[in-house]
Amino acid sequence: MAEDLLIITGSKEEQYQALLPQIKALTEGEPDVIANLATISAALKEQFNWLWVGFYIVKQDELVLGPFQGPVACTRIKKGRGVCGKSWEDKMTLIVEDVEKFPGHIACSSLSRSEIVVPVFNNNEVIAVLDVDSQAPGHFDETDKKYLEEIVRSIQF
Ligand code: SME
Repeated sequence: MAEDLLIITGSKEEQYQALLPQIKALTEGEPDVIANLATISAALKEQFNWLWVGFYIVKQDELVLGPFQGPVACTRIKKGRGVCGKSWEDKMTLIVEDVEKFPGHIACSSLSRSEIVVPVFNNNEVIAVLDVDSQAPGHFDETDKKYLEEIVRSIQF
């Protein structure tokens, strides 16, 4: 089976709408969650070309780096620390328009200007977070939140 992704231009909404069924098709026949997190990271990176996109996975009292696309990043984040740790603690999506104004933001890349972190739930527990960084300030909005939450809801464990 060919695994080429159809990359489209258009509004953010149109890009997500074209990408979502492709992500579902690429992941639904694969039972291995790490393979699917890797596929989702690669598909998002290919379509949107964000600075960094990937997953941190909950392991005991910290987040540990999982599949991602982009520059090397910190490998462990404590609960409540940074945007990722706060999203885990608060069990909610966080949109940060200016990372320099977020208290405790962890700067894995000096190029990052804005960020969105989406918790991944399994049986009401956060088991991972999806983290996306952009070089543009104020890059993420409610459209990203809506579609990224839908993408992480489609992950099977
Ligand atoms: N900025 C994140 C750390 C992870 S990197 O951006 C990949 C944070 O504050 O949690």
